[in-house]
Amino acid sequence: MEKTRKLGQTDMTITAIGYGCMGQTHSYGVVEAEKDMISLMRYAHEVGYTFFDTAPIYGEANERYLGKAVAPFRKEVVIATKFGIVDESFFTGNEDALNSSRDSIRQQVDASLKRLGTDYIDLYYQHRIDPKTEPEEVAQTMAELIKAGKIRAWGVSFAPEEYIRRAHSVCKISAIENMYSFVARQDEGTYFPLCEELGITYVSACPLAKGYLSNRYAAGTKYREGDWRADMNLFQKEGIDHNRALMDLITEFAERKQATPAQIALAWEITKKPYLVPIPGTTKRDRVKENFEAVTVELTESEMSEIEEALSHMDIVGMSRG
Ligand SMILES: NC(=O)c1ccc[n+]([C@@H]2O[C@H](COP(=O)([O-])OP(=O)(O)OC[C@H]3O[C@@H](n4cnc5c(N)ncnc54)[C@H](OP(=O)(O)O)[C@@H]3O)[C@@H](O)[C@H]2O)c1
Repeated sequence: MEKTRKLGQTDMTITAIGYGCMGQTHSYGVVEAEKDMISLMRYAHEVGYTFFDTAPIYGEANERYLGKAVAPFRKEVVIATKFGIVDESFFTGNEDALNSSRDSIRQQVDASLKRLGTDYIDLYYQHRIDPKTEPEEVAQTMAELIKAGKIRAWGVSFAPEEYIRRAHSVCKISAIENMYSFVARQDEGTYFPLCEELGITYVSACPLAKGYLSNRYAAGTKYREGDWRADMNLFQKEGIDHNRALMDLITEFAERKQATPAQIALAWEITKKPYLVPIPGTTKRDRVKENFEAVTVELTESEMSEIEEALSHMDIVGMSRG
């Protein structure tokens, strides 16, 4: 299997599996220590990852940790960060926390560059669309930032199809970042064809469904305060019982391929489409390696069809929150 991917229509190449930084400081009820995360991400680079995903809204430390970690080999990696969510209150429904006006983006990009300790961002995503700003205006701002050398390429996350088409016609979009996994397949018939048509890379967020697909989280697992999984149906007894057939399928394939369930979940994605790039996150050294080594798991065409056929008969409790 091809172990690297071209990033949209740019001249950048990234590994087929990237590393998601969010969980170091967000969504799991913990802010990990800086020195541990720097060491972890340097290890990730040693293992082979060249694509790292962060965002300011994951906490001020998130971009800072990444910037420090990759400083010694900055040119060898592709850093993706984001703009558009300017306040934590977004997560509790405040739409005023969205801002993609030209003036705001100019401030946001400078703040990210400073925290990252770099003078350019390789891939700059609009994290969520701002209902107050037209896609053409955002794309125009991106074109200006590219021209100024502050960013090399741009993308969108959870944007509607029409929005993507309008923005792309002004300044080419290189990547979209949406949620995709065995329990979140809603984009297969919509965003996948769009990526094919426009030459866009599909970066899949939460590819392990927040760890669920590793089969290492049983019903009754206690989560820290602030860990979103405590409120997700998927991680409750009903969700786990309901998806038993799916987990049986994944674990059966794991045994057959001498791999782990997490590796099957990732290998299935990168085998499925040549433009898919999952970005699992982990704070554990052994899992950094385990996840990356999913690129060595070969799933044949007939095994992919077998999985597709089995999935088509399953009613799956999905994932609605990333
Ligand atoms: N654009 C967006 O709006 C958006 C939304 C959500 C996520 N994202 C991006 O996607 C990245 C990944 O998303 P995510 O963290 O939500 O979900 P994920 O990658 O599907 O899962 C991460 C969780 O799974 C655990 N894990 C990772 N590898 C494992 C393994 N091999 N075995 C068992 N458990 C494992 C991690 O815990 P440990 O640390 O304990 O290993 C962590 O709790 C984020 O870092 C972020 O960059 C983007």
